[in-house]
Amino acid sequence: MAERAKAWGGRFSQATDPRVERFTESISFDARLAAVDVRGSQAHARMLAHVGLISAEECEQIVQGLAEILAEIERGAMAWKTELEDVHMHIESALIERLGDVGRKLHTGRSRNDQVATDLKLYVRDAIDELDRHLARLQSAFVERAERDLEVIVPGYTHLQRAQPVCASHYWLAYCEKFQRDRERLQDCRKRVNISPLGAAALAGSSLPIDRQHVAKLLEFDEPAGNSLDVSSDRDFLAEFAFCLSLISAHLSTWAEEWILWFTTEFGFLRLPDAYTTGSSIMPQKRNPDVLELIRGKTARVMSAVPRLLILLKGLPMAYNRDLQEDKLAVFDAYDATASCLELAPDVVAGAELNVERIESRLEDGFLDATALMEYLIRQGVPMRTAHHTVGSLVAECERRKCRLAELSLDDLRGRCDRIGPDVYQILGAKNAAAALISFGSGGPARVKEQLTVWQAKLADAE
Ligand code: ARG
Repeated sequence: MAERAKAWGGRFSQATDPRVERFTESISFDARLAAVDVRGSQAHARMLAHVGLISAEECEQIVQGLAEILAEIERGAMAWKTELEDVHMHIESALIERLGDVGRKLHTGRSRNDQVATDLKLYVRDAIDELDRHLARLQSAFVERAERDLEVIVPGYTHLQRAQPVCASHYWLAYCEKFQRDRERLQDCRKRVNISPLGAAALAGSSLPIDRQHVAKLLEFDEPAGNSLDVSSDRDFLAEFAFCLSLISAHLSTWAEEWILWFTTEFGFLRLPDAYTTGSSIMPQKRNPDVLELIRGKTARVMSAVPRLLILLKGLPMAYNRDLQEDKLAVFDAYDATASCLELAPDVVAGAELNVERIESRLEDGFLDATALMEYLIRQGVPMRTAHHTVGSLVAECERRKCRLAELSLDDLRGRCDRIGPDVYQILGAKNAAAALISFGSGGPARVKEQLTVWQAKLADAE
């Protein structure tokens, strides 16, 4: 009798082994699809009424019944049962319990295969929109920092070795660029998400006069997918989405790592607010950047979703195979981890302070102005490679004398290259060298201010 209760129990004479029920269930992780499942089912019912497969009145009962079931789920009043497998079965069986035969009509012209694909697409579409808002907030936090830190010059690094001086704001706007590409990538992914699976049914479509265009429109999909076989096997959009999340978390972890470094005693560039740091259980003096470390660490969860999904998809024959049920675990974990980082990140960005005194006290270390001097020589007509060599030898001289380039006398400088004039001191020193950077997109103050205006306008437009 227990078997009769199963929606697919008609041809079975033996009850399912309870261990099999536990092994095959997905309700423990797909319950979070309840809201999108109801949205999809309501649209499906409206389509069925539109083509006359159910009456308008039956449709209203179904739409209303589903809304009540969702409310019950959201109140936490739904008892999830392993034997009902998944969220789709729970909602349908609750509907049948309420409406009897009318509830039994809902699944007309569809299958759980197109249903779960639809749910996932609706879920991912919402997730993309939510991520876009998060990323815009994060960009705004960086833009506000860029306004605040406009006067601060910091060392720029390559190979983590001091390279050339740039505006601190150049760093903040660099993150805006990365997160902008992330937003654009998500929008691109959204195009492929926004194709409706509904009505592809199990794998072959249906002999019933369903209207796939109509239901696609109701759910604000751009159009129905053109091949029913492809629909039930397609999880490309999840792999793509996981990749988008992975790059977001790569960018977040680059930022986190940089700030972890800048927060060390060795760098000392950054102060983090107490609210976003934690203490040590044994060392009383410690203040640890755990939030940043976890933002860096959660990339493991996010990035592993990509291989998990690809491995799941590899070699699966058409069309639906139960393997696909595992897709949700990877995607939800990756999405949750990314969203939790993005929720905190803007506040960390806004709350930190640059330790300007400390930055300035060591700004002349590391010959940040060497490239500026080389370019000065080029402007005086010295071939680039010769200029490079000359400045290299001047740096070596400074190292011997334990001094800076700006501390060399004009005679010392002219001893290596007679094209050097007294105006050389206008580009020596880190601040002068930063100010000398004028090319488009460079880290000098004029260009950074220009880009800051671009970002202010871009983010204001989007609001
Ligand atoms: N819980 C299933 C999943 O997540 C729903 C689809 C089941 N389809 C089937 N033919 N058994 O993939």
